[in-house]
Amino acid sequence: MKSPKRYTVTAALPYANGPVHIGHLAGCFIPADIYARFLRLSGKDVLFICGSDEHGVPITLKARNLGVTPQEVVDKYHEMMKQSFLDFGITFDYYSRTSSNIHRETAQEFFTDLYNKGEFSEKVTDQYYDEQEKTFLADRYIVGTCPNCGNENAYGDQCEKCGKSLSPADLINPMSKLSGNAPVKKSTKHWFLPLDKYQDEWLGAWVEAQKESWKSNVFGQCKSWLDQGLQPRAITRDLDWGVPVPLAGEEGKVLYVWFDAPIGYISASREWSEISGKDWKPYWQDEHSQLVHFIGKDNIVFHCLIFPSMLKAHGKFILPDNIPANEFLNLEGEKISTSKNWAVWLHEYLEDFPNRQDELRYVLTSIAPETKDSDFSWKDFQTRVNSELADILGNFVNRVMVLTHKYFEGKVPTSEFIPDREVENAATSIFEKLPELIHNYNFRQAQVEALNLARSGNKYLADAQPWKLNLETQREEIARVIAYSLDITARLSIALAPFIPNTSAKIRRMLNLSPEFIWNDLLTSHLPEGHNISHPEILFKKIEDTEIEIQLQKLEDSKAINIVPSKHNPVKEPITFDEFMKMDIRVGTILEAEKVEKADKLLKLKVDTGVDQRTVVSGIAEHFKPEDIIGEQVSVLLNLQPRKIRGIESNGMILMAEDSDGKLHFVKPGTAIQSGAEVR
Ligand code: MF3
Ligand code: ZN
Repeated sequence: MKSPKRYTVTAALPYANGPVHIGHLAGCFIPADIYARFLRLSGKDVLFICGSDEHGVPITLKARNLGVTPQEVVDKYHEMMKQSFLDFGITFDYYSRTSSNIHRETAQEFFTDLYNKGEFSEKVTDQYYDEQEKTFLADRYIVGTCPNCGNENAYGDQCEKCGKSLSPADLINPMSKLSGNAPVKKSTKHWFLPLDKYQDEWLGAWVEAQKESWKSNVFGQCKSWLDQGLQPRAITRDLDWGVPVPLAGEEGKVLYVWFDAPIGYISASREWSEISGKDWKPYWQDEHSQLVHFIGKDNIVFHCLIFPSMLKAHGKFILPDNIPANEFLNLEGEKISTSKNWAVWLHEYLEDFPNRQDELRYVLTSIAPETKDSDFSWKDFQTRVNSELADILGNFVNRVMVLTHKYFEGKVPTSEFIPDREVENAATSIFEKLPELIHNYNFRQAQVEALNLARSGNKYLADAQPWKLNLETQREEIARVIAYSLDITARLSIALAPFIPNTSAKIRRMLNLSPEFIWNDLLTSHLPEGHNISHPEILFKKIEDTEIEIQLQKLEDSKAINIVPSKHNPVKEPITFDEFMKMDIRVGTILEAEKVEKADKLLKLKVDTGVDQRTVVSGIAEHFKPEDIIGEQVSVLLNLQPRKIRGIESNGMILMAEDSDGKLHFVKPGTAIQSGAEVR
């Protein structure tokens, strides 16, 4: 295959409804960054683009739950996400957001272009409508029973349990997420992308032609969609949050988030153009450019079928060359969940492990869910950091640095060396295999190859044992070993740069080497005799058991405070009357309330229970302001075993009821009564 003139690399625009967690990083952003870094290192022309996805029902639902505007939600999380990507060295050329003006224009132009060409079909159909809230119920505004697997909490666009993609009409017993009522049907007009027509005309054959180059999980999913036969897809919604449909007289309609979001890649490129002064068009319109979308597996149909259909219908754009989707990363054996706070948030990780981004990058690449779901566990994190990064890479680099200072006043002692066969094999293997591994999106194996150079360096040094030689009589030999080891260290800074860039930069600072280098330096890096090196810095501190325990405790806390919505849960196993009577539930009065530091969800309460005054930690901080609940009467389970939550001993539990919006309410007596009254 001819090598492309330039690369356009995108990472899926994350929804701006929560901070970034390790699942995002492992699934999409780290692989995309490794790829972009490697391409740049190889002298390729790359545009690496991303931004916040600020439309869609996940955002408006979040805003509703918090009682703020969607704009406030996206403003907050856009900034947070952008910062996390910066902190973790994700080298986007531009990070945009879909609430920007250029994006609105770009998305509207795109729609208008397709509209004018007559690509869309226009249909009036019956859609679910919430009479109380006076609004149509699209996508995640509606829940019900999945026709495929019986999950009672399936959304109007997808069942998260079996993964099937749905439309609201498929749901059994549909219910509005807004009012909790059963919806009625009301007719409304929408525009549809004729995927069925495209399938016959070209899309089916185009996907078929990707069989060899797309990952099998990606190709397989597309194939199963095509086998079922594609249907026309509505690309507009009746919502008040999104890019307005650019047609006169169609107020109250917006573009479907999955229509506007991928256009965000193009608008972001246009914005990049304005600040960089470079033309964005070749990256999207020149057939010698290669477009690669990094995504998670839940995004496959949008990037492999729908967006390509849009691009093709428009006619001026190239189609993606590849869409290397990853599977999912789990955490300690369970699915990562924002709402259950079952996640490792990047901003929290950095508070607990400052300046240790590379450790997380390294481990997430080691366990990347490239072909199947994988699991992050803190124990495994500790083991990989300590026994691979610290013991192999850190140890090797540190020994070389220390020895150079000890024996040769920090100067490269000679320009001569005797190449070691294993080390040279490792280096050659990296030079030859790594580009191919990376172009096949096999980043796990690529990183293993790169670290092998440190492994063989370590072994070389351990075998040569320069510290056992006699400095008087064997000075030449010591000099050759040290000089060669320094060269290996310099090569490591290149081989590891796409994966652990901070470490690479640190090594180059220690060796007094320019921060600029190219991939070919890997084979030719050679430090001249007399070159001064700087002082050794420790590359990796070991992760202590106590640090891991703190993280595990945090997760335990999430479990303890996680209140499961009861509405759709089946009735639990029967219990006896005596068992019920074991619970000591009383009316209590909240005396004091304050936020728990660094815990978004927790309030520390002082409660008068009638029998005593006690501290209870409660996971309600997102629902109540501390000052608003002082004096509230609540129900408290008194004889729950005390638990430490974030280091605070919690004695009891406040009983809460959750409504269909996910909002929490106190369970309280209908009228004020004395604290200590028993609830039975
Ligand atoms: N926001 C979507 C998600 O998190 C991804 C959008 S990717 C884009 O699943 F192509 F639409 F931008
Ligand atoms: Zn299902």
